[in-house]
Amino acid sequence: MHNACMTSQINPKSESAGGSAPIVDALSRPLHDLRISVLDQCNFRCPYCMPEAKYNSDYEFLKKQQRLNYDEIMRVAAAASELGVSKIRLTGGEPLLDKKIGDLIRRLVSLPGVEDLALTTNGMLLAPAAEKLAAAGLHRVTVSLDSVDADVFRAMSGGRGELQQVLTGIKAAEDAGLGPVKINVVVQKGVNDHTVMDLLEHFHGSGTIVRLIEFMDVGNRNGWRMNQVVPSKDLLAKIQERWQLRAVGRNYAGEVARRYEYVDGGGEIGFISSVTEPFCGDCSRARLSADGMLYTCLFANQGTDLRASLRNGAADDEIRDILSSIWLQRADRYSELRSPDLAEHHVLRKVEMYRMGG
Ligand code: GTP
Ligand code: 5AD
Ligand code: SF4
Ligand code: SF4
Repeated sequence: MHNACMTSQINPKSESAGGSAPIVDALSRPLHDLRISVLDQCNFRCPYCMPEAKYNSDYEFLKKQQRLNYDEIMRVAAAASELGVSKIRLTGGEPLLDKKIGDLIRRLVSLPGVEDLALTTNGMLLAPAAEKLAAAGLHRVTVSLDSVDADVFRAMSGGRGELQQVLTGIKAAEDAGLGPVKINVVVQKGVNDHTVMDLLEHFHGSGTIVRLIEFMDVGNRNGWRMNQVVPSKDLLAKIQERWQLRAVGRNYAGEVARRYEYVDGGGEIGFISSVTEPFCGDCSRARLSADGMLYTCLFANQGTDLRASLRNGAADDEIRDILSSIWLQRADRYSELRSPDLAEHHVLRKVEMYRMGG
């Protein structure tokens, strides 16, 4: 009895129940998004993420027992939703390698307060899965697609991607009601930047939203160099030589992409400029890795082991309190502090992106 009273005094639940007073971090940023990596494996080997030389048959991915099961993921997601999370994204690795993911989707959409449930995929397995994903309740998908030049695309997938199969997957997702589909394009100088205009042409007028992402220094293994980054403002200038664009406002506070629309009605494109125009100021994203680590920044070098708590008998209230205390202390703003020099030398030991979930 006494304990229960004590708990309710320090317990953030009473403040945040129903999302009425969501918690904020040390820089006044709310906890709005949870990105859940369901597994660290991938059927691609994009050189900027999982270079083949390092991720070959010798590399040990997480074993099933090391990964959170759905019950465990649900406990973390439920705690996060009590603290204000209304947006959940499933990522990997490649989340569609998990054949049961529809079961997790079904459970996540039923969480109170979850308004947006999206999934990021490389699209290779999307066509046969799209209808099932939609039926399970998924709201939308984002597909990583770096070029519509079949050879460039194949090279950027580490020799494993088939362009037509991904394009068919995008169409299947749209037909299944998982649109508007967003396309993530990582732009690397000298690798695919010469194919960006063709990609925009391909999707212009289709309803698919292309987002051009600056190549980032995530992890320590992708050989990032500042001279491989194409600044968004250069791309924008080049695109404006071909199409008239107008800036449009954000869909929600903390949106990562700066949005533009074609004046001719051809739809929307976005720029994600984490290197040249960081957006840490209103970053509201927490990341849960497949092995149950909670990270408060994409560039984190450490996280909190929630799997240990989940498997050592922590009650739901305790999980929520752990999340809450992590968020209250959070002061990450890596992209604002990054200097190209330090990033090139990989001074910080960061967690790899496929592990943490993009
Ligand atoms: P929407 O909900 O559709 O607006 O998606 P989103 O803007 O959250 O985009 P998505 O999850 O597709 O992320 C697109 C890309 O933006 C990621 O693959 C990363 O490259 C980058 N990105 C997303 N979140 C962050 C972040 O918090 N920090 C940094 N530096 N980059 C991010
Ligand atoms: N820089 C920018 N974006 C990246 N992604 C993966 N690695 C990087 C990187 N180094 C993006 C992929 C995918 C998402 C999960 O993360 O394009 O869309
Ligand atoms: Fe796989 Fe996505 Fe990483 Fe490419 S970027 S290797 S598709 S997880
Ligand atoms: Fe958020 Fe970290 Fe990205 Fe900044 S660098 S926007 S704090 S995830």
